[in-house]
Amino acid sequence: MIITIDGPAGAGKSTVARSLASRLGFRFLDTGAMYRAVTLAILRAQLVDSDGEEIAKLARRLTIGMEADRVLLDGEDVTEEIRSEDVTAHVHIGADNQQVRSTLVQRQRQFATVGDVSGVVTEGRDQGTVVFPDAACKIFLTASDEQRAKRRQQDLARRGTQVSLKDVLTQQQERDARDRSREVGRLICAEDAVSVETDNLTLDQVVDHLVQLVLAKDASSPSRAARGTSDH
Ligand code: DC
Repeated sequence: MIITIDGPAGAGKSTVARSLASRLGFRFLDTGAMYRAVTLAILRAQLVDSDGEEIAKLARRLTIGMEADRVLLDGEDVTEEIRSEDVTAHVHIGADNQQVRSTLVQRQRQFATVGDVSGVVTEGRDQGTVVFPDAACKIFLTASDEQRAKRRQQDLARRGTQVSLKDVLTQQQERDARDRSREVGRLICAEDAVSVETDNLTLDQVVDHLVQLVLAKDASSPSRAARGTSDH
């Protein structure tokens, strides 16, 4: 079973998706981390100003490992480094490149087919629309701009970077605009996704709600009906 969680930056997708995956015994895929790993490689190779073809070639060469909670770039653990301000500021270079996207989309689909677990929770911007259009359960996670900016500010402070709420809000608006207007894989709620607003909910409340949605989808899925199984 594939569960997609899409939504804007700061809506709490990673925490929610990770927690949902652990509750269900599913694998978890953070696709934003894959775009971030490509960005780190672009920065290290000093390809920020190169043409799209060069960047696409680099992305195809890279090995990106997503193991447990760690992100490995050509075998090196870059879990913390990919969250830096520099990577965040340049992440659009890979995300706007259609060849990079198609390389990563292919790898995301592969991730969902390996391993012997019953399901995958995958989060990003285009998981329910482009990568897994037939996913059994699609969620679109949102929160108010203010709430998302506060979370990002706290997250940065935990990493030792102090940024004013106003600056975080400005960066967030720029990133939202890019994410929503990108030609391919732009941030948009899939027609068959359930939209969930997290402003006034705790993490546990959000995850409880999603577990209920997943169980309801699973109970009504054609494959379950064909197997003649029920929840009782
Ligand atoms: O979720 P995040 O902030 O770690 O994602 C980093 C960037 O990667 C985000 O600005 C947009 C891009 N991204 C994307 O284009 N498609 C995805 N499936 C996931 C992330």
